Amino acid sequence: MSQQKSFSSNLGAIMAAVGSAVGLGNIWRFPYICGKYGGGAFLVVYLCFVFLLGSVLMMSEFVIGRRAQHTPVKAFQALCPKHRAWGLVGLLGIITSFFILSQYLVISGWTTGYVWNAASGALAKLGTDPVAISDFFNQFSTSQWTPVLFLCVFALIVLAVILGGVQKGIENVSKVLMPVLVLLVLVLCVRSLTLPGAGRGVEYLFSPDFSKLTGEGVLAALGQALFSLSVGMGVMLVYGSYIPVNDNIFKTAMWITVCDTLIAIMSGLAIFPAVFSCGFEPTGGPGLVFLVLPNVFNTMGTAGVVFASLFFVLLMVAAITSAISLLEALTAWFSEHTHTNRWVGALLFFVLTTVLGILFSLSLGSLSHIKISGLTLFDFVDRLNSIYLPPLCALGTIIFFGWVMPEEDIRDEMSNHGTLRIGYFRLFRFLSRYVAPLALLVVLVSGILS
Ligand code: PHE
Repeated sequence: MSQQKSFSSNLGAIMAAVGSAVGLGNIWRFPYICGKYGGGAFLVVYLCFVFLLGSVLMMSEFVIGRRAQHTPVKAFQALCPKHRAWGLVGLLGIITSFFILSQYLVISGWTTGYVWNAASGALAKLGTDPVAISDFFNQFSTSQWTPVLFLCVFALIVLAVILGGVQKGIENVSKVLMPVLVLLVLVLCVRSLTLPGAGRGVEYLFSPDFSKLTGEGVLAALGQALFSLSVGMGVMLVYGSYIPVNDNIFKTAMWITVCDTLIAIMSGLAIFPAVFSCGFEPTGGPGLVFLVLPNVFNTMGTAGVVFASLFFVLLMVAAITSAISLLEALTAWFSEHTHTNRWVGALLFFVLTTVLGILFSLSLGSLSHIKISGLTLFDFVDRLNSIYLPPLCALGTIIFFGWVMPEEDIRDEMSNHGTLRIGYFRLFRFLSRYVAPLALLVVLVSGILS
């Protein structure tokens, strides 16, 4: 087995995995998807998927990556040399990462733009008028070149980090900055919860009304769980190959899962009370965070400008560490297959995903007439990225893990060659052999049929 090149120190690999999981998925995507599909009932289903499926998948990807010491395609082939077709699951992961990164750049571009809008005082000028704030966002996100410009700025930062070999620096910085982001979200929670009429938002999030839950909502909950944990696309498999041999995979995965989920819920608590108090709709769609939070900041007076600027900067840092993980997976895969320098792969995928990202961005405005099966390019790739590709790749991964990979290898890897006690193993095995594949299959098939 070839030794995968680790791009950072021991703790660095784990910090990088946390950085990958915590990002726009928690703060931008969770509230809007939760709002779109009915609030509390969605949250219940989401939590089930996160703990019964997402965490299990994360452990599987870590085990496969660390055991094989290869990137997705070759990892599957190395662990099952007789049936090299399993490599296709890895390829599906790479394709998924590619599309996710292209779309991720669009929202990261918005975030970068909002750093500017907050710091320049443009957001503060809008006051607390929901109509003015909505108009501002709509104009910003559908205008032709402004979002594209910010998208390029963001993509260049990510490229610079990867090429500059300063991931380690970023990890160290984010070790400090991420707790600050969490703290800021907490401040936002307090502000949001003390707004008049906030109770309705809390109720919306925590008292499930299952009559609001649809089949599509269940599928969306699955997609969100996978997206938020960065599983089902080979990213955690690549990071798994960097995880040091003496690390406890179970603990690491559980820790990431819990943190990631808490941050998502906190972000829901910051958004929904304000949604109801300020007169927005929970079904506001992808712009939800960009509408609601400026309103909350603008209730804080002059401190609001500082808080808003800081918040969007930190959100941008969170997005950078996630985007890095996607570009890292693509780069590592490419250089393992072509034996080229990492620069080549990083540059190639930077260009490809940026161009595609620009197209997706334009499809919200000037190119909105281009439709694929009735959807704009952005909506189409959003569907692909949430409902189809990650669950499919996750299904392949978990079937491989549960039914193809020898149990002895898994046991050996999870116990660090017998040095750790793994009392949870039988439950874990049951989840990964039966519960996870079955749940994925049912949700996927019913989603596709409907
Ligand atoms: N998990 C990241 C987030 O929550 C997004 C991501 C998805 C990153 C897939 C890597 C792979 O923002």
